[in-house]
Amino acid sequence: MIPFHILIESDSMTPTSLTSASKIKMSDAQFDQLRKVIYQRAGIHFLDSKKYVLESRLSRRVEELEFDNFDQYIMYLTTGPYQMDEFQEMFNRITINETSFFRNEPQLLYFEQEILPKLIEARQAKKTLRIWSSASSTGEEAYTLAIQLTRSLGVRALDWKIEILGTDISEKVLLQAQEAKYPHYSVRTLSPMILQRYFKQDGNFYHLDPAIKSMCRFEKLNLKDRLSAKRFGTFDVIFCRNVLIYFDDDMRKSVINMFHDQLAKDGCLFIGHSESLRNLNVKFEQIAAPQAFAYTKL
Ligand SMILES: C[S@@+](CC[C@H](N)C(=O)[O-])C[C@H]1O[C@@H](n2cnc3c(N)ncnc32)[C@H](O)[C@@H]1O
Repeated sequence: MIPFHILIESDSMTPTSLTSASKIKMSDAQFDQLRKVIYQRAGIHFLDSKKYVLESRLSRRVEELEFDNFDQYIMYLTTGPYQMDEFQEMFNRITINETSFFRNEPQLLYFEQEILPKLIEARQAKKTLRIWSSASSTGEEAYTLAIQLTRSLGVRALDWKIEILGTDISEKVLLQAQEAKYPHYSVRTLSPMILQRYFKQDGNFYHLDPAIKSMCRFEKLNLKDRLSAKRFGTFDVIFCRNVLIYFDDDMRKSVINMFHDQLAKDGCLFIGHSESLRNLNVKFEQIAAPQAFAYTKL
């Protein structure tokens, strides 16, 4: 059976195939109100054509709260004592968290073979590397980078201080990331060699090697909150893959400018293969390698 989150992410799915079983329907006006507050809080922009996503993901929540309609839900979300908790609950439900180990492998191999050796050379004196997986979802991206760093440094890893930070707006996915226990779907593209080396199978689940797990930590962060991001300091590499597609140009620009502030002078920014910084007028230059989807600071 195809997991539900994949059905949601696939643009080829028709709205009717996602219609919720709930009787609670969302009017166009309610959709407008909801998407406005979501945009204000998190910069996530729901296109007109995505009303069915919000409706299908939130109608059960409206029922759980024993409300009769979305007007009551919107009131509960935007006024009253439980706003913060409900926004969190809503983000846990409406975000699209599709990810897997070694997602877009050619890009990751570019990182490992072209960028990482130069950075290791450049940081030889300090022996410190800081990497940020800025929309980490359930952690597969951050842990993939940890595997790559381990492979690259070999025994030298013992002398290095490696920090890999994964952040996401959804608390639900961060809890899964911290557990580091994955279904077959997450590891489906991995070679038997990598599976055997870095995972322990337990029934239908794959437990990540504790040594790889210990290289990463996970924290909640809304990419709209530039001030809050500052506390994490500066990074040598930033991955921001497959989240810019959910933002509009203003939000994209703000997030990319934040990365500019928090990326080392010789650092590197990686984005998703269907994303681009074109037309954003930001101080980054694209690396001229077709599989890289990577940028350096101007
Ligand atoms: C499709 S996943 C991408 C996961 C991973 N980067 C990858 O490419 O495989 C997008 C993630 O972005 C997160 N996200 C969406 N809006 C966000 C925001 N404003 N701040 C932080 N994370 C956000 C979602 O919760 C989701 O887990």
